[in-house]
Amino acid sequence: MSFFKNIWQQIMGVNPFNGDVLPSRVHLFERGRPCLPFPHLLNYKTPLLIFDAFYANAKSQDLFERDNRYLYVMGMPPVLLTRDPAVIKSILLATGDKPGQFDRDTSPMAGIARVTGVNSLLYANGKLWRKQKQMSARPFGRGTLFQPEEFHEFEKTFRATIEKRLTVLRDAQNMSKEKVSRIEIEQEIQPIMLEMLVNNFFGGSVEYTELRERYVPALLALIDYMITDTVAPNLSAIHRLMTGKNAALQEWRTALEDLTDIALAGRDKKSGHWKNFTGMVEDEEALRSNVRVFLAGALEATTSFAAWALSHLAQQPELQEEVFGEIKDMNVYDPESLAEAKLLNQCMDETLRLTPSLYFFPRKATADTWLKLDDTKKLMIPKGTTIRLDIWNANRNEFFWGKDVSGYPADSFAPARWDVLANEGISRKNLMHFGFGYGARVCPGQFLGMLEVGLVVGAFIKVFRFRAANKATVARAGVTTKPGDNTLLDIELR
Ligand code: HEM
Repeated sequence: MSFFKNIWQQIMGVNPFNGDVLPSRVHLFERGRPCLPFPHLLNYKTPLLIFDAFYANAKSQDLFERDNRYLYVMGMPPVLLTRDPAVIKSILLATGDKPGQFDRDTSPMAGIARVTGVNSLLYANGKLWRKQKQMSARPFGRGTLFQPEEFHEFEKTFRATIEKRLTVLRDAQNMSKEKVSRIEIEQEIQPIMLEMLVNNFFGGSVEYTELRERYVPALLALIDYMITDTVAPNLSAIHRLMTGKNAALQEWRTALEDLTDIALAGRDKKSGHWKNFTGMVEDEEALRSNVRVFLAGALEATTSFAAWALSHLAQQPELQEEVFGEIKDMNVYDPESLAEAKLLNQCMDETLRLTPSLYFFPRKATADTWLKLDDTKKLMIPKGTTIRLDIWNANRNEFFWGKDVSGYPADSFAPARWDVLANEGISRKNLMHFGFGYGARVCPGQFLGMLEVGLVVGAFIKVFRFRAANKATVARAGVTTKPGDNTLLDIELR
């Protein structure tokens, strides 16, 4: 759609969408909103508020118009924000590399690409993405990770890592005169997650203290830099120049490169899971980009997931005891025992639903695209539309997830809702929390991630009884969401 057509439609108030249902318009300036409806220097650290700004004045009686909102200004193509699960599912299914399918919109990832490279599985679109996807299928596939002969070795090394770290925490707790210690658990989880990926998955060899003191802080600083560098690249460069942070940035980058080398070192000996990487090895730079993405992305996502799970369980001591009862005698964490830990699995699903780590997915319409939403409704999204799939709010949609459907309010942490849904014959396929995405661009690391997070959460519950230090925790959102209080817990040995 041309610049002039956009301008004309914007002035005349023509809705650029088409179909049986239409998104409603958000204006650039309106009263009564928490902030402006686009990221800028004053609001980019509170992206969930920007979403709220989109919905704030949606007064229509029509649910579709309230959940699907667009901004249309200055000759630019429309920006569509949706918290409608049916629209989200449809767009995810129509994303891919076939002509006319939606692309991942890379504009909110410009900073990420400057650090990790442009040809990674996360950033690339089209043919390049497809090639990477095929290469990642085997090493991360459920069939590979959960092969009995592979799995037992793999599970043993993962468990050894967690047990070693929990022993340190347990010893510290034993030595302390206090029965209860207060700790920010997030900073304990981060190095464990990185260690599992580098040493266990990639068969690398890096000391825990080095991970904790050098690599985790460098990666976290880089992740923070990636966000600022996306929103305000020029200002971020000037700020670094003035504060002398360029040298620090160089150090963080060097740390990421060193860690990438450590992860790659096992490739020739085929240690860790390298024997299952085949095609990727041909393209050295793409391989490096992917390893960087796996390191930074996986650290963020798995830490977020585990931190939220512990944070929710810390608010509900009775539920925590029920999970403990279920897993206390479980010593082998293989796919069969995992499947038997029904409540733990429900807690994990409920965590990803209520507090998804990746809280929005960016997409771009490469052509005018018709979506079939159900038997009666179709929606046309015009070419060039920038799309933000608002997973955070979609997963709290009372109409889809609330009391009438699941027996519990949508905005509460209630793992028992999954039993209600199952009894009603509503499967996970009908009702999706999109915690790992859906469709062609679904997360390749989902089985590895579930395994890692399940192990960390399960092992923690087995060793400690824990309570939340704060009654309620708000979310802080950057690349992923995390509990706003850094998961501050009062822990006590069982
Ligand atoms: C356990 C926590 C994790 C969560 C909650 C998570 C979540 C997600 C989600 C929601 C997406 C889809 C984004 C979209 O559609 O735009 C995604 C994509 C991706 N994830 Fe994960 N992830 C996790 C762990 C991992 C791990 C452990 C790895 C790798 C080691 C990984 C690598 C990736 C990559 C490369 C993509 C892009 C895939 C593509 O575009 O085809 N993730 N993740």
